Amino acid sequence: MPDSNLRTDPVGVFDSGVGGLSVLGEAVRQLPGEDFIYYGDTGNAPYGTKDPDTVRHLAFDVVEKLRSQRVKAIVIACNTATAEAAKELRAYYSFPIIGMEPALKPASELKEPGLRLVLATPGTLGSEKYARLYARFGRNAVSLPCPGLMEFVEAGDRGSEQLRAYLSTLFAPYIGQPVAAVVLGCTHYPFIKPLIQSFFPAATRVLDGNAGTVRQLRRVLDREGLLNPGDTGTVSLQTSGTEQTLSLMKAMFIEAKEMTDPETN
Ligand code: DGL
Repeated sequence: MPDSNLRTDPVGVFDSGVGGLSVLGEAVRQLPGEDFIYYGDTGNAPYGTKDPDTVRHLAFDVVEKLRSQRVKAIVIACNTATAEAAKELRAYYSFPIIGMEPALKPASELKEPGLRLVLATPGTLGSEKYARLYARFGRNAVSLPCPGLMEFVEAGDRGSEQLRAYLSTLFAPYIGQPVAAVVLGCTHYPFIKPLIQSFFPAATRVLDGNAGTVRQLRRVLDREGLLNPGDTGTVSLQTSGTEQTLSLMKAMFIEAKEMTDPETN
């Protein structure tokens, strides 16, 4: 279908909720001249425990909302929606669609021996896309589905007793074992990265795919002649959630812009 293709059009970024703001924070750092429209589908969250067809429908609905605002490209700032819908979205739309996957490849390339723990939603870890990734890079990797974890982040939680208890139970079998890397395979989890790191020795790397995703966005925009030549981009935050969600999104976007990851930048 025909789409706008102007360098000055905005880039659409979406997630099931606030998690993709961790990607948006990285995007405005790397691409300060771009205008971004972020859509957090909090009214329909979570995606990660829904069946693949439902997630695909939700993803198409969000992309339609962004397309009607003349975006020149879309970033699926959600591992679950990428796993369940990226292929179908790319087949339907003609503008570039950039997706995400758990950073298992970089984790597998670390020289350190030890386990690679992959934290992601049941949807991501149960997908065919992840099965292919795991088949290539899954040596020493343990996949840990985290149903319910995004809800803590969605509620603005960074370290309540309940959240600590959730993570203690999740990590208990691996404490004391050599763990080379923990892969944050859901865009909500970078907001609790310090808490996750605190369960492991400092040498354990906690990796996310955000910087790599934004580098890919830059490459694709450049290749298509779509990089915005300006230097003062804007950000519009939108949600299917409540007014309260929008206030939380504004605060988390500020937090996200300060979350630069020295390991991946
Ligand atoms: N932030 C999403 C991801 O990266 C998923 C959270 C959810 O909706 O379950 O997978």
